[in-house]
Amino acid sequence: MPRVSIRKAGEVHAGEVPPNANLVVRAGIKQFPHPHLRYECGMGKCTKCACRVLEGAEHLPPPNWKEKKLLGANLERGYRLMCQLWIQHDVAVEQDTDDVWAATVKPPEAAA
Ligand code: FES
Repeated sequence: MPRVSIRKAGEVHAGEVPPNANLVVRAGIKQFPHPHLRYECGMGKCTKCACRVLEGAEHLPPPNWKEKKLLGANLERGYRLMCQLWIQHDVAVEQDTDDVWAATVKPPEAAA
């Protein structure tokens, strides 16, 4: 079972997820990483689920067109959209606090 660690606001939350798990789908049904993962649309439109991958990026698939469109240069800073990823291997990510997200990753057209 892949081990997932989410760092946020100075805290680290870790747990195991079934292979091929989508973290936003799991959070939506109140399983880990709920309540530690911010998300909204679940469809690659809002960027609220964006996280910087700290470990395990080499096991993730290349960004899809939604990630490329919404994250732009933030992809090079290691950001990925968790709603667009199905986790097969251990991964460690960091999610920005809301104010940092709003200042860096949030696209201009996205709802607050
Ligand atoms: S939850 Fe909206 S882009 Fe991932």
